[in-house]
Amino acid sequence: MPDSLPKIGIVTVSDRASSGQYEDRGGPAIQDYLTEVLSCPWQPIAKVIPDEASLLKETLTLLADDHRCCLIITTGGTGPARRDITPDITEQVCEKRMPGFGELMRKVSLEKVPTAILSRQTAGIRGGSLIINLPGQPKAIAECLDAVFPAIPYCIDLLEGPYLTTNLERIEAFRPQKK
Ligand code: MTE
Repeated sequence: MPDSLPKIGIVTVSDRASSGQYEDRGGPAIQDYLTEVLSCPWQPIAKVIPDEASLLKETLTLLADDHRCCLIITTGGTGPARRDITPDITEQVCEKRMPGFGELMRKVSLEKVPTAILSRQTAGIRGGSLIINLPGQPKAIAECLDAVFPAIPYCIDLLEGPYLTTNLERIEAFRPQKK
């Protein structure tokens, strides 16, 4: 595959999936979602790691700084449990916080499950990468991404990243008219 394809990082953060205690269903669900929604060619870079702060920090910086992913989506580790550190590390590695993503994803998730309030999921910008956290539940992936995806391609335009296009029957990217 040519190196110029837009790269998207997919990071499963889970002690149990990374140790093989159960199969990772979150990462493949994100990849399937993006395959369905994006109409442009793109390249996934998928990682499955335990809930370890130093490893997550290393993985996010590798995907942002070395692979230059325009988008990095994490799944898992957003809750209140002792090992849940994904939003904390996301905020640490980002120069800018994008709290609207977490706010909207929690709002739509609350219409599905009352425990959506337990997710501290957030988003932020590191260099040219938009990093977005999703909860670990595979069914939460489409629920959350459907809500925020219309704004993602324009956010990446503003970061001077690749021009992402979507399958209009699935999701329509919103790009404000140029003044
Ligand atoms: N959001 C959606 N859309 N669907 C869900 O099933 N599960 C909630 C919440 N958000 C859920 C959701 C639950 S039970 C928890 S504990 C938190 O996400 C954190 O999950 P995580 O630690 O796996 O990221």
